[in-house]
Amino acid sequence: MADKVPVVGFPTVQTDQGFERLKKLAEKFKEKFGCEPNFYGRAPGRVNLIGEHIDYCGYSVLPMAIEQDVVIAVATTESQDVLLSNVKSELYSDFVFPVNNVNINKDSPQWQDYFQCGFLGMTEHLKLSSPVRGMKCMVDGTVPPSSGLSSSSALVCCAALVTMYANGKSLPKNELADMCAKCERYIGTQGGGMDQAISFMAHKGTAKLIDFNPLKATDVYLPDGISFVISNSCVEKNKAASSEFNTRVVECRIATQILAKQKGLQWASFQHLGDVQKALNLSLPQAVKLVKEILHKEPYTRSEICQILDMKEEDFVSNVLSSRTAQVQSFKLFQRATHVFSEAGRVLSFKHICDEADPQASQKLGKLMNESHTSCRDMYECSCTDLDNLVSVCLEAGALGSRLTGAGWGGCAVSMVPTNHVMDFLVKVKKNYYDKNSTKAAMVGKSLFATQPGTGAQIYLPNIAS
Ligand code: GLA
Repeated sequence: MADKVPVVGFPTVQTDQGFERLKKLAEKFKEKFGCEPNFYGRAPGRVNLIGEHIDYCGYSVLPMAIEQDVVIAVATTESQDVLLSNVKSELYSDFVFPVNNVNINKDSPQWQDYFQCGFLGMTEHLKLSSPVRGMKCMVDGTVPPSSGLSSSSALVCCAALVTMYANGKSLPKNELADMCAKCERYIGTQGGGMDQAISFMAHKGTAKLIDFNPLKATDVYLPDGISFVISNSCVEKNKAASSEFNTRVVECRIATQILAKQKGLQWASFQHLGDVQKALNLSLPQAVKLVKEILHKEPYTRSEICQILDMKEEDFVSNVLSSRTAQVQSFKLFQRATHVFSEAGRVLSFKHICDEADPQASQKLGKLMNESHTSCRDMYECSCTDLDNLVSVCLEAGALGSRLTGAGWGGCAVSMVPTNHVMDFLVKVKKNYYDKNSTKAAMVGKSLFATQPGTGAQIYLPNIAS
């Protein structure tokens, strides 16, 4: 039977998501809309343990859901509007849109644009024509924004989920995840499918290996005696408001096509580095070697790429680049492809070590995380000074491994720490990173915390006991 998002009763006891929190959300809802919500949707954020910037190249990644999430309280209405309100009204203004006229602002996306991505994706997917149900929605998000913990995908996934439920439909989790990965791209970022997959497919207590094409989530049991600690560098990076993310996606695609062409494949149909590796029947280390043989370390210019791919520059701009990357002049293909193939190998090694219950497991996993960070920093260039500094502080404070998590260029680090050392670790990181700067010191409460693999998306019904 297809695995569907669970529909559960309103928690009557304190849970991860918090009975008190849902009660408060219901009160806010009533204050704003003058009626009770009919149901609540919830979708969590995630921390990626290893496998950065490789999902959009076709490779498996290894995230876990976190407790921080987006919860939306909903009442369906007979009107043709969606009324959005946010618990943090001082930061996120109310917004109304007609169900048949979604308008996503790609140039400067705001919170409601992510909601509209999920709403539009769902209505298109279900081919819901008029009348789509109107809704009153009160949104409460606890994932820190622009921090690499997938706050935007949690909102997109939750919006799609409540739209589905409000219209009396039910889809399997993998279909929801695939659909949400696609509709989040309406915002203009060419992300992969990791964030949406883990938000729907997570289970409490295990991290997941997420494979793509077809989408599949496999439990990964982490060794006993270790904990994961998240620390926010307090440098915000909104990937939808900048070009770096899409530039990396383009660089990977160009590297794919040049490798494919030089190896005599029908290169134009190749979009992902993973597909070239498969077509050439190479192991990941052999793919890294191939990059060394074929690509050069100096950045490629547009004209060189056009010459290799036998393409006119105007076709390159219109077919290969997008509006956000139209200005990019040089492309580091060797570095990006080397990162992708080597990182894909580290994910498989990580999973293998967890499966084998290796007695040296935690040391080996820590080493892989450190190698991943180095590759993200030096080859993929998706770190930043504060984040590198934070990772060093975490290692000095006793982490066995530490790395940036999520898109990078700011946001969070994830560290693997012996459980019996976590308190000491937190004290040291606070002292040596946060307390060095008054702005960061003021943010430490919500920026530094241990985390456990959390549960995936859910629907809560207020009228049934759980
Ligand atoms: C963002 C994207 C993901 C993934 C990560 C980097 O979170 O949404 O699909 O590419 O960056 O690993």
